[in-house]
Order: sequence, then structure tokens, then C-alpha cells
Amino acid sequence: MHGHNDRELIQGSAAPEIANSSEGTPKDHVMSEIHLGCPPKFSGSFISHFAFSLPRDAEYIGSKNEYQAFDNSNQNQEVSLDDDGDLALPRRSKYSKDKLVVAIQHNITSSIPSVGLQVWRAELVLSDFVLHKMFTTSEFDGIVAVELGAGTGLVGMLLARVAKTVFLTDHGVEILENCARNVHLNSVMLPSKTLVYVRELDWKASWPPNQSNSTSSHSYGWNLSEIEELERASLLVAADVIYSDDLTDALFTTLERLMSHGLNKVLYLALEKRYNFSLDDLDVVANGYSCFRSYVRDETEHHELLQNGMECAFVGSRIDLTEIPQYANNYDRGQDLELWEIRRRELRYCG
Ligand SMILES: C[S@@+](CC[C@H](N)C(=O)[O-])C[C@H]1O[C@@H](n2cnc3c(N)ncnc32)[C@H](O)[C@@H]1O
Repeated sequence: MHGHNDRELIQGSAAPEIANSSEGTPKDHVMSEIHLGCPPKFSGSFISHFAFSLPRDAEYIGSKNEYQAFDNSNQNQEVSLDDDGDLALPRRSKYSKDKLVVAIQHNITSSIPSVGLQVWRAELVLSDFVLHKMFTTSEFDGIVAVELGAGTGLVGMLLARVAKTVFLTDHGVEILENCARNVHLNSVMLPSKTLVYVRELDWKASWPPNQSNSTSSHSYGWNLSEIEELERASLLVAADVIYSDDLTDALFTTLERLMSHGLNKVLYLALEKRYNFSLDDLDVVANGYSCFRSYVRDETEHHELLQNGMECAFVGSRIDLTEIPQYANNYDRGQDLELWEIRRRELRYCG
């Protein structure tokens, strides 16, 4: 097992859609900025400990659950013998009142289809937001939540501290296995009464999602009651899932299915605008962003009125990130991260 610490997040630069090879990184690989405690030039999977500072009164606000953190910094060490030849057990949960630590197995680089093995900055912004809601309101208490494109599952696991049921969803066995491993690594911090499912939800596949049966090649399929519960989820979260237009189209098709039934469903979506030079536009453009905006009407904008019409649309507003404290230790939010609150609304127009 490799050494680690939870003191620093090492910054860099990345874009899931661009082969961003740095020294020692395979050409077709991309790299996120989040290399917490990882030795330089390390590639492959690594267990980091993400520390979140807790507000002083976190234990008393918002939820019935205590926000006690645990120090699992020795959890991943191999079992060893002490000088007398006795088994030296890793130090067990030392409770600290001012931080919450989540163990995450993640890759430092990956191929583009495996970007979900890495942690991306938008996941940390969304983590900050979710924690802020949990510390200041009881909105997420006892709810059914789903994380789409969950990757390592960090945000979903934070939600599981207060929710009733959380579905951590993604696409591809390798990513789902890594996510399930993270749930296992953090089982100490997850309340036993919360149901946490790691499930395959491929936005490009037909609906309903694959059901588990004896012929399944993996155990991330759904059963009928889980699908029903997924459709009832009132909270949807997603981070860094806007980077290619065909994926954005598929994502919004899935969102339409998940958000069309039932009132008061909300999606919090964190994204990173990444700029590239486009030959079509002969300009520097944010790939994927305009496609995303074509699906989401700005709540604050005045829209052209149809004659006596009605339509369903995604309506969103940007959340001011300066209002959201940074609980995740030592990462740089930069200028290009956005967080959106999005609902599906019936818009009625009269001429
Ligand atoms: C850039 S990663 C973000 C991962 C994680 N949310 C984070 O920010 O750290 C994009 C995620 O979208 C997932 N994804 C890509 N295509 C998908 C599809 N067709 N259906 C579901 N998830 C998909 C990837 O597997 C990956 O986990």
C-alpha cells in the first residue's frame, strides 16, 4: 500500500475531452487536477483521504445524524507485526469534531472512457454545496437521491450521511467496481440505515436500465423496486458530465425520464467550462457548454412567448459559488466552475 496524507490537493490542468499528456502519462490519457497526497509521477489507482472541514456547530444543525468525522488514515495499511511478533492492528476510528475524512480510491490518469476513475474538481464543488445544504438545512434528510456519472462516488457518499437511499450510478464495470470499493472503504461513516446502491445507469442505453438476472456479467443491474425508487428520487446530482455533445444529449434524455414524474425534483449540476480553439468557429469556445445551455433555460431570462402554448422545459439558475464555503481542503476552484440548480417545469403561455 502506498503512503498518503490528507493535507494537500495538488493542482494541475485537465480536460476529459483532450489527450493532455504530461510527463510519464500515456498519450491517450487525461489527467484531472485532483491528486491528493499522491507521490509525483504516480500513475494507477491510489487511495487518498479527502478531508472536509466542518463548521463548529455542524453537529447541531440540519440533521439528526452527527457529523463526527473519523480518522482512517491507517485504514489502508497492510497488517503488520510489532516488535514482539504480535499483530499490530491499524488505529481504529479516532473521532475528530472538526473534519470529515472520506477515503477515495481513484486513478491519477486514465483513458477517456475511464475518466470516472479519477476525481474531478466539479465533484469537490458539488461536495462543498451538498455539505453546505446538509449543515444549514434539513432538505436532504431522509430523501432518495441519485448521483449520475458518479465516478468515484464522493458526493453520493456524503449525501448518504443524511439521505434514506442513495443510488450511485455510472457506466462500465471498471468504474462501478471502483465506486463500490469506495463505498466499502467508507462503510464506517455511512449510517447503517441508509441504503447505498452502486448501479449501472448508461444514459445511452434504452429505458428502463438493465435488470439484474442470473445471466448478468456483473452485479450492478437493477431490480424492479429499485427502478421504481430511482424514478421517485427527488434529488439528482451530477458533476463534470458536460464535455461532449452526444453525451449531453444522452444525459438530458435520461434527465427527462427521471424528472418528468413527480413535483419538486431538483438537479444540482456542477460543471467545468473547458475552452478549446474551434476550427468551425475560428474562435476559442467552451466545448459542450453551449449544448448544455441549449437544454436549460435561464430562470432569469425573459423568454419569447408562444401563442397559447404549453411546453415542458428544463429551467435553471446558476448558484453563486462565492456563497458556498469551501469545506474540501486545499483545492482551487478557479474561474471556470459553475453550479446549476435545474428543475423541469411546465411552461404555459397565453397569447
Ligand atoms: C469527468 S467524469 C466525472 C466523474 C465524477 N462525477 C467527478 O466529477 O469526479 C464523467 C463521468 O461520466 C460518466 N459517463 C460517461 N458516459 C456515460 C454514460 N453513457 N452513461 C453514464 N455515465 C457516463 C463517466 O463514466 C464518468 O464517471
